[in-house]
Amino acid sequence: MKIGTAAETFPGERRVAMVPDTVPALIKTGLEVLIETGAGERAGFGDQAYRDKGAQIVPDRRTAQAADIVVQVRCGGVATGTANADLGTWRGDQVLIGMCDPLGFPAACQRLAETGVTLMALELVPRITRAQSMDVLSSMATVAGYRAVLLAALELPRMFPLLMTAAGTLKPARVFVIGAGVAGLQAMATARRLGAIVQAYDVRAAAKEQVESVGARFVQMELKPGDAEDRGGYAKAMDEAFYEKQRQLMASVVAESDVVITTAAIPGKASPRLVTAEAVHAMRPGSVIVDLAAERGGNCELTKADQRLVAHGVTILGPTNLPAEIPYHASLMFAKNITHFVQNIVRDGTLQWSADDEIIRDSTVARGGQITHPRVRELLGLGPTS
Ligand code: NAI
Repeated sequence: MKIGTAAETFPGERRVAMVPDTVPALIKTGLEVLIETGAGERAGFGDQAYRDKGAQIVPDRRTAQAADIVVQVRCGGVATGTANADLGTWRGDQVLIGMCDPLGFPAACQRLAETGVTLMALELVPRITRAQSMDVLSSMATVAGYRAVLLAALELPRMFPLLMTAAGTLKPARVFVIGAGVAGLQAMATARRLGAIVQAYDVRAAAKEQVESVGARFVQMELKPGDAEDRGGYAKAMDEAFYEKQRQLMASVVAESDVVITTAAIPGKASPRLVTAEAVHAMRPGSVIVDLAAERGGNCELTKADQRLVAHGVTILGPTNLPAEIPYHASLMFAKNITHFVQNIVRDGTLQWSADDEIIRDSTVARGGQITHPRVRELLGLGPTS
């Protein structure tokens, strides 16, 4: 049985789904590993490094994607514009694994389903202990949180650390992080390492301790989120009155910050608007906002996805693919996640398909020519599977 990966073709995507270090583990599960020539180059992994670990370098995309299991960073909806070119490739006896945002782009998954391929979405891997090592969302958010701080540091006309020099004392930068999930906590830790004074806020009560554990100060607000967490530990959406109060209470913290990094997200919903144009106006000129939620509409009213704009002297960045900007480590983490995922479905070189396995069941979007995932079916207006 073969597993293959081809180069990512989505514009700006520099990651690769398999790295040399993960090849031996895949071979140990009984798989032959095929890599399209040059697939890892933009991430810093040359063909020879794959060969040295036992992979076979194949000359073209088609050969890599003819494997029994194909792994890609992006497929379906998150490869819009490029995924269609691969549609003719897929067969009913293949498994395609990657990020495809089935809840955001169900129609793209439907097109894949029609080819007969079994489609497994890494975004749908349940956040349970056994699946932690397969959680690409957490891995990629870690990279994004780190990178967001570096972007802010480069834009800011000040330095981050407190410096006492013969030319005077420089005050440390003040960084405010909104949302203390995976990306937010990594942003806080990174900003602290650079010497900034870091504050943070999150609606979830459990976040306070986590914020303090990375050396940041939790901003207390006269807000009563009540039961802000769902059973999975994610934030629930609040009503508009709550967000209005939050915006008002946060405005003074935003105004006194040199850098605001927004990462507030509600799974499956548009990002809450937490920083208004008015709040941006109240910031000092030269301040920087990095809005990690840009892809889902942004936490800042003025954010434009994948653009750098300056409003009232404040630079606002809305990057949507930060992991691709640190492709070596992002690929390494992604490949480790995907290897654990594959090890769960392959034993001794054969596919062990078990719909009773929670990880397999939750992450399978399509199989046997039809969409099998209930939420994706619902979004497409399809009834229950026959
Ligand atoms: P997460 O779900 O772990 O964290 C989001 C946090 O926001 C949660 O702790 C939640 O409680 C908090 N939150 C929700 N509503 C809030 C509110 N009103 N006020 C304060 N906090 C609130 O998500 P993760 O993995 O940390 O990702 C954060 C964001 O970054 C997401 O929007 C994700 O899509 C995005 N992201 C962006 C990337 C990029 O390249 N731009 C790459 C990876 C993730």
